[in-house]
Amino acid sequence: MLVSETEGITLQATVPAGLDRKEAEVYQRLDPARLPKHIAIIMDGNGRWARKRHLPRVAGHRAGVTSVRYVVETASQIGIPSLTLYAFSEENWKRRPKTEVAFLMSLLSRYLKQEVPTLHKNNVRLQYIGRLHELPDFVQEKMEWAREETSRNTGMVLTLALNYSARSELADAFQSILKAAVNNGGIQHLTIDEATISKHLYTSHLPDPDLVIRTSGEMRLSNFLLWQLAYAEIYVTPTLWPEFRGLHLLEGIAEYQTRERRYGGLSESQSSRGLRS
Ligand code: FPP
Repeated sequence: MLVSETEGITLQATVPAGLDRKEAEVYQRLDPARLPKHIAIIMDGNGRWARKRHLPRVAGHRAGVTSVRYVVETASQIGIPSLTLYAFSEENWKRRPKTEVAFLMSLLSRYLKQEVPTLHKNNVRLQYIGRLHELPDFVQEKMEWAREETSRNTGMVLTLALNYSARSELADAFQSILKAAVNNGGIQHLTIDEATISKHLYTSHLPDPDLVIRTSGEMRLSNFLLWQLAYAEIYVTPTLWPEFRGLHLLEGIAEYQTRERRYGGLSESQSSRGLRS
């Protein structure tokens, strides 16, 4: 419990254990009842971070793993139910040098091996989305091991998007709907509506994200969760991923809480004006 004094009034905000002083300050400005239930992050800028320091690109990815560790810890400490991280896109495979892809694969494998104790400590359950069967066998084995090891944790669900593409996900969902109809008595049983599509996406275990964060300033979704982000608030920060910490996550949430979510409807003030006239 952290107690602060503002203009003689004592405010008592329960700050979750583990936050540092700066994080606690931002946390105290948040409304804990309106935290996003699912945050998705496009981690970008590893290469630029390395270039600025005259280091090889892979040094940026290594530093990016440290950011993953911090952000997962802060998100779970403040009680975010789901966090999804865009780690490798399908395009990354095709468009990056083989050596960089190989490095990313071994980095992921090492991350999974090393991180399980921290995931346990934070009660985090690990999941994955993407065309996972196309990943190297040694990575798939580590992934399955880490998923199983954390499967009984009851806190935040951490989903890593690996070899992920939103368009491939939709194509796979349509195939899966068709297959289900065929197995269920034939194509005349085919139903295509929003609920069916959502149920056949890789993310069927998750609510749609409320907030998507992109680091390093680019204003793109880069083929990430295109269906699921339909009503998400978008927060773009110039901070490069290797410099992104729990404090930046909390600042993104603070910005999210200033937004008015309308889902295509009217704002509260517009609705009440409409009712009066
Ligand atoms: C984007 O930076 C980042 C990636 C393609 C890979 C993300 C991977 C990590 C953060 C580390 C591994 C993750 C886990 C979960 C172990 P970029 O290389 O596109 O940067 P640039 O746009 O500045 O070149």
